[in-house]
Amino acid sequence: MNVNRRHLLTGTVGAAAVALTASACASEDGDSGSGGGKKVGIAMPTKTSERWIFDGDNLKASFEEQGYEVTLQYANDVAADQVSQIETMIGQGVNVLVIAAIDNKSLNGVLAQAKESDITVIAYDRLILDTPDVDYYTSFDNTKVGTLQGTYLVEKLGLDAGEAGPFNIELFAGALTDNNTKYFFNGAMEVLQPYIDGGQLVVLSGQTDLEQVATENWDGAVAQDRMETILTSFYTGGQQVQAVLAPYDGISRGIIAALDGQGYTTMPPVTGQDAEVDSVKYIIDGKQAMTVYKDTRALADVTVDMVVAVIDGKEPEINDDSTYDNGDHVVPAHLLEPVSVDVTNYQAELIDSGYIDEADLA
Ligand code: BGC
Repeated sequence: MNVNRRHLLTGTVGAAAVALTASACASEDGDSGSGGGKKVGIAMPTKTSERWIFDGDNLKASFEEQGYEVTLQYANDVAADQVSQIETMIGQGVNVLVIAAIDNKSLNGVLAQAKESDITVIAYDRLILDTPDVDYYTSFDNTKVGTLQGTYLVEKLGLDAGEAGPFNIELFAGALTDNNTKYFFNGAMEVLQPYIDGGQLVVLSGQTDLEQVATENWDGAVAQDRMETILTSFYTGGQQVQAVLAPYDGISRGIIAALDGQGYTTMPPVTGQDAEVDSVKYIIDGKQAMTVYKDTRALADVTVDMVVAVIDGKEPEINDDSTYDNGDHVVPAHLLEPVSVDVTNYQAELIDSGYIDEADLA
């Protein structure tokens, strides 16, 4: 995957281009943008998932182009470590914090400290809950991520075209500590539930509640274990799994490994998210059906533009002021559009846009 370069982006990614503001034209020599030596702390969750590495790299590069001094930290999915990293950043005198939270409810204390120091706080991709101290939110339309996944399965099985089924489906969701999880799952279930109610889709495991289908830490190995248990407990009479709702590519690959281990030679459609290189390879090989592509370069741009506006005392560009109530207030948000990608459009969406280098797929 490629590190963001604004001047490339404007030409290649339509959605990103719309999000760019005048600040996108700032100089790229690293010291004459609007940052003027101001400090940004970026707290990312983990390096085990490809997307966060690119988010971190893209944000760092874009902030540095604007003249900001950047501290970038990863906390290996340990919420308490993320809190300490943020405390350290506050101690270093950052002006802005950009945080992709590991646990959406563990940051209240540290964010109160941030506010005492007048730091602008941006919740990056994952909303931070139950605190007055988050100023803005940048993300994608998270409900739509789920509806794209659910719709893909319905269309793949032909349910929308009148196929009666019944088809066996199993459901997976992300980590309960991530605010996005319920948006993804509810978005997918809006599409799938009517077919479950109508008997065209059957969940043989009976596991349909978010708490039952959630995956701790978004961990593919945890999902693989759960899929194995489902297969050996509920698919013992020759039944086949015919579709799997999976929220994220790492989880999808865990599920596919479990199916593989149980002798599936043709994979049922398994969904995903993030357009990770390994999953795009699976899509090309017919092992994973689809992924939801979210252009993290565009998200970094929107976030940097927002910070630049705030620091310059201007109104940042917001396109949603109603969806994301964090339990304290509705957080003004800038949301981008996710895109459904499968074997028919990965070339145009991922390669031609420069998001993935074709050579990485070899
Ligand atoms: C992000 C997804 C990602 C997941 C696991 C979510 O908060 O929105 O893009 O797949 O976390 O890292």
